[in-house]
Amino acid sequence: MSSTVSVFKPDVFAGKVAFVTGGGSGICYGIVKQLMAHGCNAAIFGRRQKNIEDAAAALSKDTGKKCIGISGDVRKLDTLQEAIKRTVAEFGRIDFVVAGAAGNFLSPLAGLSANAFKTVLEIDTLGTYHTFKATIDELCKTKGSILAISATLHYTATPLQAHVSAAKAGVDALIKVIGVEYGPRGVRANIIAPGPIAGTEGMDRLMPKELVAEHTRAIPLQTYGSIDDIAQAATFLFSPGAKYITATTLVVDGGSWHTSQSVGGSGVYPDAFLPGGEKAFSKL
Ligand code: COA
Repeated sequence: MSSTVSVFKPDVFAGKVAFVTGGGSGICYGIVKQLMAHGCNAAIFGRRQKNIEDAAAALSKDTGKKCIGISGDVRKLDTLQEAIKRTVAEFGRIDFVVAGAAGNFLSPLAGLSANAFKTVLEIDTLGTYHTFKATIDELCKTKGSILAISATLHYTATPLQAHVSAAKAGVDALIKVIGVEYGPRGVRANIIAPGPIAGTEGMDRLMPKELVAEHTRAIPLQTYGSIDDIAQAATFLFSPGAKYITATTLVVDGGSWHTSQSVGGSGVYPDAFLPGGEKAFSKL
C-alpha cells in the first residue's frame, strides 16, 4: 500500500474493534491496515480461508495490533452471525463495520445470464444487508458506525456494468436508510464511492490497459487514486471528526465521475452493443 503521512492521531482508535468483509485484499485490506495503525483490533471476513488467515497474520505483524481472519460468505447470513460471535468472544465489542465484499466482471447485458446478475446482487447488495443484520446489535451497544464500499458506476449509465450498477445503487439506498433509522440509536452509516484506484484487482482486471492513458487524462486530478486515499477517507469517517456525518456518500475519485467515460465502455461504444458485437467482450 502506498503510504501517506496520516493526519490522524496514532491512537485515535485505541480500544476499538473493526469488522471488515472483504478485508483480505485490495481496498478493504488497506482500510483495515489504516484502522489498525490507528490503534484498533480487527476481524476480517472472506471466502478463502487460507487467504483471510494469511492476511490477518500480516496485518497483526505490520501494525502490532491483533487481527483475526474468519472465513465465510456474505451471501450466507449464518456464516456472518458466527463470525460476529467469534469477534465478540475475542475482542468483547464491535465499533466499526466495513461492508466491502464485492463481486464484479465486465459483461454486456446480452452476455449476462439471470444467474450472473443475481450473483452480483447477492454478493454486493444482499451481502451488505447481511453484514448490517449480523452486526447492528453490537453497533447499537457501542454507538458505532458502518461503512459500505460502493462505486460511482451507477451515477451515469455504465455499459458492461448493469449488474454492478444495480447492486451498488441498492447498497447506497440501504445504507442511507440505516443512517436514518439507527441515527436515533447513535449509529452512523455512510458510503465511500471509490473512483479509479491503482493497484486494485478491479482496475487491473476491468480497465483495458490500452485505455489507461486516455482514461487518466479525463480525470480532473489527472491521476488514479491509491488504496491509501480510500483508507484515509475511511479513517476520517470512523473518527470523531465525522461524528455529525451520517447517511451520506463520500466520493473519493479525483472528480472522475463528472468527466470520465464509463469504465470498460470507452472505445467500444456503440459498435460492441450492436448485433454480434458482444463477441468483443468474450475474453474480458
Ligand atoms: N461474464 C458473464 N458472466 C459471468 C462472468 C463474466 N465474466 N463471470 C461469472 N459469470 C456468471 C457465471 O457464468 C454464472 O452464471 P451461469 O450460472 O448462468 O453460468 C454466474 O455469473 C455465477 O458465477 P460463478 O463463478 O459460479 O459464481 P461465484 O459465486 O463462484 O463467483 C464472482 C462470483 C463474481 C465472485 C466471480 O465471477 C469472480 O470470481 N469474479 C472475480 C473476482 C471479483 O469479483 N472480485 C471483486 C473485486 S472487483
